[in-house]
Amino acid sequence: MSLATDQQPSHSSVLHATLAANPPKIVGAQGHYFKTADGHSIFDASGGAAVSCIGHGNPRVKRAIKDQLDRVEYCFSPWFATDAYEKLATFLTDSTHGEMEKVFICGSGAEAIEAALKMARQYFLELPEPQPQRTRFIARDRSYHGNTLGSLALSGHAARRKPYAPILSNQMTHVSPCYTYRYLGDNETEEAYVQRLANELEEEFQRVGPDTVAAFCAETLGDCLQTLGGVPAVPGYLKAMKEVCDRHGALFILDEVFAGMGRTGTLHAWEQEGVVPHLQTVAKGLGAGYMPIGALLISKQVVDTFSKGTGAFVHFQTYHGHPVACAAALAVQEVIRDEGLIENCQKMGKYLSKALRNRLEGHKNVGDIRGRGLVWGIELVKDKATKEPFPVADKIAPTIHANGLRPEFGISLIPGGGVADGTNGDLIVVSPAYNISIADADLIVDRAARAIESVLGPVKESKL
Ligand SMILES: Cc1ncc(COP(=O)(O)O)c(C=O)c1O
Repeated sequence: MSLATDQQPSHSSVLHATLAANPPKIVGAQGHYFKTADGHSIFDASGGAAVSCIGHGNPRVKRAIKDQLDRVEYCFSPWFATDAYEKLATFLTDSTHGEMEKVFICGSGAEAIEAALKMARQYFLELPEPQPQRTRFIARDRSYHGNTLGSLALSGHAARRKPYAPILSNQMTHVSPCYTYRYLGDNETEEAYVQRLANELEEEFQRVGPDTVAAFCAETLGDCLQTLGGVPAVPGYLKAMKEVCDRHGALFILDEVFAGMGRTGTLHAWEQEGVVPHLQTVAKGLGAGYMPIGALLISKQVVDTFSKGTGAFVHFQTYHGHPVACAAALAVQEVIRDEGLIENCQKMGKYLSKALRNRLEGHKNVGDIRGRGLVWGIELVKDKATKEPFPVADKIAPTIHANGLRPEFGISLIPGGGVADGTNGDLIVVSPAYNISIADADLIVDRAARAIESVLGPVKESKL
């Protein structure tokens, strides 16, 4: 993720995103605004990396954290249970209407993915007739599942993989994303596109050996954060992918680290897709940034297999199930429920998408605006007719991001890259908190549009 590079480098012992410059220092955060050390305010239109879904400084969550610190600040989860972990896990399993039976709480999205990969592997060892040959995972090109070695190996994020490719597992392969803006054929129906993608997955199973695949993993909404910018799946796509998995006895994993916990307008993004995963990861909106937290949700089929097998997942971490993180996340989820924030996310999502389109669709470099709920990606192209991307060297999205942080714009946006081919192709993503108002949405559109125009020039043929 690129950060502002216009700050004066001064001594810092922190390994910042770039050694050449320090990012703006944040000294306060309240509601939707950051306060910088030099006295400016920045509207948090990205929720950080789509994390701060209830805004900053929520008193109810702060109180829950303090109460938990007074009760039990830490104990080692493999040896002890806590009310905080039990209550959060029950909240999560209940929220799936019984589809998911157990929960493993960890510290981040990548940790949740690592746990999912290991659980999928162990599942096949636990079957009454074990299948130890299942060592492969299939994911999608331009996906992002995390930066640890396992989750990066799973990811189809070319730029992030490149330096580490020689040390990434060779058991992960990738198929095409579901991405209509670039890949729906001219005369192709959505049904035919889904069939084409299902055929491709089937061919990949056949290529690597269908009985060697442990799982297929996809983000429910195509990489929201950086490479695709929240591309919704074509209706029936995820169902068709799961059918391929079922045909070959492989598990179906949905990564909802970004898209989950309300961001798309339902608590679980799969609720809108007519599929239920065998394993599901969530993170960002779970704790809303009040504490680092991620979770693996485990279906009955997998739990039953474990309970008839060894009964134990061979995986634990020093901080898994951390009671303060669990108490914070439960309080966040109670705020979301009690304040009707999922409904607001649906309502404001419709408003925001319309306002973004009205303001920006006529811009000669805005190729596509897509998303769902409160995640919207704006794909920027050099040529609208051919969809040719700007070369990565032009740094379009990173410069828009950096300009956005300047006092005259005062907005935090997510810059994405590699959308067109893994290397080139720029994106700006907005993913604000679920409790924004119409005035907030108008402000986001105005500031985001001006930051974009500061790099690409004004909209000449506005639709208004
Ligand atoms: C879909 C998805 N999966 C996994 C991750 C990794 O999460 P984390 O950065 O918390 O490790 C991310 C982070 O952006 C993500 O968007």
